[in-house]
Amino acid sequence: MADPKKLVLLTGGNSGIGLEACKILCSKGYTVVASVRSDEKGDSMVSAVRASNSAADIHYMICEMADPESIRTFADEFKKKWLVGGRRLDVLVNNAGAIYDYPERQVADVNPEWEKTMIVNALGPITLTDLFVDDLKETALEKGDARVVMVNSSITTMMTWMFKEQIDFDDVMLSKPGAYKSSQQTYKLSKMALMMATLALSEELQDTSVKFNSICPGLIPGTNISNNRQSQRGTAYKIMFGLLAMMMGKSNLDGGQFIVNAADGTQGTTRGMFYVRDKLTSPNPQVAVADNQRRMLKILRDLAKSV
Ligand SMILES: NC(=O)c1ccc[n+]([C@@H]2O[C@H](COP(=O)([O-])OP(=O)(O)OC[C@H]3O[C@@H](n4cnc5c(N)ncnc54)[C@H](OP(=O)(O)O)[C@@H]3O)[C@@H](O)[C@H]2O)c1
Repeated sequence: MADPKKLVLLTGGNSGIGLEACKILCSKGYTVVASVRSDEKGDSMVSAVRASNSAADIHYMICEMADPESIRTFADEFKKKWLVGGRRLDVLVNNAGAIYDYPERQVADVNPEWEKTMIVNALGPITLTDLFVDDLKETALEKGDARVVMVNSSITTMMTWMFKEQIDFDDVMLSKPGAYKSSQQTYKLSKMALMMATLALSEELQDTSVKFNSICPGLIPGTNISNNRQSQRGTAYKIMFGLLAMMMGKSNLDGGQFIVNAADGTQGTTRGMFYVRDKLTSPNPQVAVADNQRRMLKILRDLAKSV
């Protein structure tokens, strides 16, 4: 069958940079299927994308990234609905992510031992990607190119000489007493875990034309990422963050464009390199160790299988 349009699956399409990426991808002629967490959010996403382009080929499906079972159901339904009649998945964008800025450690329903940021930001995207690896390989064989974009964060590489957080491979889900220190530390560790596993996955696929990119959009103050915020940060912090955002922040649209650059082929590598905005950047030193990458991928796979 002649493939009418390239097909993109993007997680977290209803908000922030994911929503802008959906708009840009549709304007470039892609069919975009975005995951959201409710019909209400899906309908509002479709309306927002169609308001910018009435011909947009945009669709939604529901997936909860904090629950591997929901991810498996979603992947199954996506394949039945979209990967039929010879149609291929061209690009998978793992954009959905969260930071739970509460005073206490947050856990997910699937396992009260597991820290929630780790599930949403690391376990979820790796589980989803694993479920589509065979489809992406087929796309790469047939078309010579298939892409995975992992939305990561430069928080993983910032001043590592001062902020020395390291992943404890025996306690990736931060269950041991005292392992959870703050939402920022946990967010950083979750994105480090994601990048490690991404590099290991791309190594497994290095003989194929499935290309992996990790990207950080930089500081984007206009998204909803800070809405899960209950900690009582002081006025000084808020002023400092506001100033930083004014000086360095980019718009949601800029953030969406960085995703599209990686999804679209302007940036590309088979080894999961890390782009901060459009600048190639070295990963965190602990992330850069190949044994750590393989170990993390195995840990996340084993955890996903256990629920
Ligand atoms: N903003 C920044 O400065 C910045 C910097 C570096 C990296 N990033 C990364 O950029 C990505 C997008 O974030 P954003 O800034 O655009 O924030 P956002 O506006 O909050 O968008 C996050 C998206 O992820 C979805 N999501 C969150 N938790 C989920 C869950 N448990 N299951 C399924 N979907 C879930 C959200 O859905 P709901 O609306 O249902 O919550 C939303 O669609 C994230 O991976 C984030 O870590 C952002």
